[in-house]
Amino acid sequence: MLSRDDVASESDASWWRQAAVYQIYPRSFADADGDGLGDLAGIRSRIGYLSALHLDAVWLSPFYPSALADGGYDVDDYRDVDPRLGILADFDALVDDLHAAGIRMIVDIVPNHTSNRHEWFREALASPRGSAARARYIFRDGRGPDGAEPPADWTSAFGGPAWEPVGDGQWYLHYFAVEQPDLNWDNREVRDDFLRTLRFWSDRGVDGFRIDVAHGLAKKLDEHLPSQADLDALPKGDGGHPLWDRDEVHDIYAEWRTVFDSYSPPRTAVAEAWVQSHRVPRYASPEGLGQAFNFDLLEADFDADAFRRVVEDNLALAAQSGSSTTWVLSNHDVVRHATRYGLPEPANPKEKHGYAWLMSGGVSPVLNRERGLRRARAASLFVLALPGSAYLYQGEELGLQEVADIPAESRQDPAFFRNPGVEVGRDGCRVPLPWTTDRPSFGFGTAPPHLPQPDWFASVAVSVQEHDPDSTLSLYRKALELRHRLQTAEQLEWLDSAPDVVRFRRPNGWEVAMNFGAEPAELPAGTVLLASSPLAGRQLPAETTVWMQPS
Ligand code: NOJ
Repeated sequence: MLSRDDVASESDASWWRQAAVYQIYPRSFADADGDGLGDLAGIRSRIGYLSALHLDAVWLSPFYPSALADGGYDVDDYRDVDPRLGILADFDALVDDLHAAGIRMIVDIVPNHTSNRHEWFREALASPRGSAARARYIFRDGRGPDGAEPPADWTSAFGGPAWEPVGDGQWYLHYFAVEQPDLNWDNREVRDDFLRTLRFWSDRGVDGFRIDVAHGLAKKLDEHLPSQADLDALPKGDGGHPLWDRDEVHDIYAEWRTVFDSYSPPRTAVAEAWVQSHRVPRYASPEGLGQAFNFDLLEADFDADAFRRVVEDNLALAAQSGSSTTWVLSNHDVVRHATRYGLPEPANPKEKHGYAWLMSGGVSPVLNRERGLRRARAASLFVLALPGSAYLYQGEELGLQEVADIPAESRQDPAFFRNPGVEVGRDGCRVPLPWTTDRPSFGFGTAPPHLPQPDWFASVAVSVQEHDPDSTLSLYRKALELRHRLQTAEQLEWLDSAPDVVRFRRPNGWEVAMNFGAEPAELPAGTVLLASSPLAGRQLPAETTVWMQPS
């Protein structure tokens, strides 16, 4: 029988290199106090569930005090817990419980912007132009008489203008929602405060950090601001763009690295950096954050060549930085992969997969749920066998589909409100999890949940799946347990295969074959360890992945 070979003695300091990390969106995971909003006690009540998934770590999306203008990515206080989610003692208890279960804890750090309720921003509004309080943010005089025109015509990521007036002729930059003023990272006080935040959570036992908008902190805004058209025309891959992926951002992470390395084992970090591929290794380097998200599979078509190319490219990039790569199929910002894979490819390749379906409220094009789930199970099994870390998003282990028909009055995502008729936003992947078949909230809590759950959640609830050996939950449990036992050096060797099949072998003989095609292919020789759909004879069924070992 294959076993975990050369990594068995891996030191504690490199636990993250091939970790299975499960993203928890805390407000939608489990609600212990019955207010309709998930909380830290809710997560604690599900440690058994997390343990049974054989995870290496969980990543908590923001749980800090917040008005939820952007699902918690608008942080009022970086060193506290939202009172609706608990108190610091609950956080400490959660870390203890997770550690006792052998699961590490990664928290989200949101350094590009605070919320507009952060004490610094309140102080900035109450202070005059040119004050030290305003210097922590990006304030500019408006143009035109009395500064009534914005300093530039920039558009925010969620739609609408990126500059907001404050009533005295000055405007502040908010690249995201109006409630998310951008910080000025040239300001020493801002830098020091984040170092303090990193120490604060590290001292509380946090093992690592996920860094939001990691490529956006360093900005170079001259007296004369470029127009949006100028910005769009500037190259983004040379370190010189005024807003994105500037070379100086790495000076910030070099300072963070000294904090990370002052702990034993060193704290880890993973960058959310939407940058060109050749720019990723610096974020992932050991002198920087240490690891960076690779979203390429999340954006790839369900296609053998596309998947193989993405894997090759990202293993090469990881080798360049000395880091390990990261695989992501779903997260809290995108249409769930079981749904993406059940929809036709968009006619316009620039359109996000699932966009038209979401905009139609889930009506057109028609979603093939069965196919989407079959492909999702195959893709997940493929990803879980690759060298590097796998980042999983809560609910994907249930094969959960996106919820498309959330009524306008229940929606929360600022992208919906700031883009009327153009975006519906990301609420459909953030609907609270179904734990049981019982209303009002399918076991999420005792009150109606903060986002409405559809009736079909009953059929995919944890209670329905956990005793069914063929369920997606059982598949994830088996795969993650096996992955632990089989983990090996961070390499793979490609094996010859039919055109629609991608096959590789890991150094200890662990072999993987994924059939992307609509027709069965030949099953490779060897003993099957796990398959994403039922096998019949010596065939590898359509849209199926198998894990094998030599006989
Ligand atoms: C990326 C986060 O993943 C997303 O949810 C958020 O809206 C933006 N950053 C702004 O913080």
